[in-house]
Amino acid sequence: MSTASAADATTSQVPDRELTAQRLLRTSAKHSYDPAVEIDWDAPLAPDRYFFDPRRSSLYGTPLWDRMSEEQRIELTKHELASLYSVGIWFETILMQMLVRHIYDRPTGSAHARYGWTEIADECRHSVMFSRAAEKFGGSEYRPGWLVHQLGRLFKTTSNGTLTFAGTIYVEEILDALQREQMADESLQPIVQKVSWIHVVEEARHIRYARDETYRQWPRLGRLGRAYSRLVLAIVVYCATISLIDPKVYAAVGLDVKEAVAAAAANPHWRETKQFAAHKVIKFFNEVGLIAGPGKLLWRRAGVL
Ligand SMILES: [Fe+2]
Ligand SMILES: [Fe+2]
Repeated sequence: MSTASAADATTSQVPDRELTAQRLLRTSAKHSYDPAVEIDWDAPLAPDRYFFDPRRSSLYGTPLWDRMSEEQRIELTKHELASLYSVGIWFETILMQMLVRHIYDRPTGSAHARYGWTEIADECRHSVMFSRAAEKFGGSEYRPGWLVHQLGRLFKTTSNGTLTFAGTIYVEEILDALQREQMADESLQPIVQKVSWIHVVEEARHIRYARDETYRQWPRLGRLGRAYSRLVLAIVVYCATISLIDPKVYAAVGLDVKEAVAAAAANPHWRETKQFAAHKVIKFFNEVGLIAGPGKLLWRRAGVL
């Protein structure tokens, strides 16, 4: 069976749009959290606790890492997490606009539209949560570089149905994989566990909505539309992945930025972390047939394949 027909076969098993949305609306009614209330924003950070498993740091295992003090390593995970949150905010803002565009043409009385609005509300709360947490960590100025920021502007205005949901799944899944570890690790900062937990619980339904919708959208594309979508998705993947760690985090912990960026780029542990984070989403994209053609080069350059 060719890739396209494999995807088409899976598509026929995807539940009706309204059924997916009705189920997700029920879950949303039961499990939605307001970070303004749920999180103790005034609690002091623990000076001796990591912000995520140090083995997930971009510098873990490098000679530079070996020279760093324990305190500096903890600080680095704090700033790296603030940077990951800033990528979360960047893409959630992109997603909110794409969802608004997606719903614009749907019947206003449909569960599909109602769930879309519900998800936008979730993402609003998430971005406020990430922004407050990043500020608490002293890293509220991190963000993707200028070019990626501009490409994001273009993407959120022009994405087709497949790209809206496939692009979303990529960023949601890689953050989700890392946050699932963080919420379960009791040795970490309590605030990190809580932020991760809220995000993981609410993202589970976003990922379901996006996966089902990708299955529905993809078969509608012709040959050209599919080639175009694969290539643009690869660009999104590349841009999001290289933006995970803002180089400014290294300066914030007193490292030489050039040296640290080079060390991270050559670090096999960091590559492994990125592959771990992307593992699930790559499996899904391969199932649909979204990773192929010249864009594959960008997937490799991003270090996730
Ligand atoms: Fe989110
Ligand atoms: Fe989400």
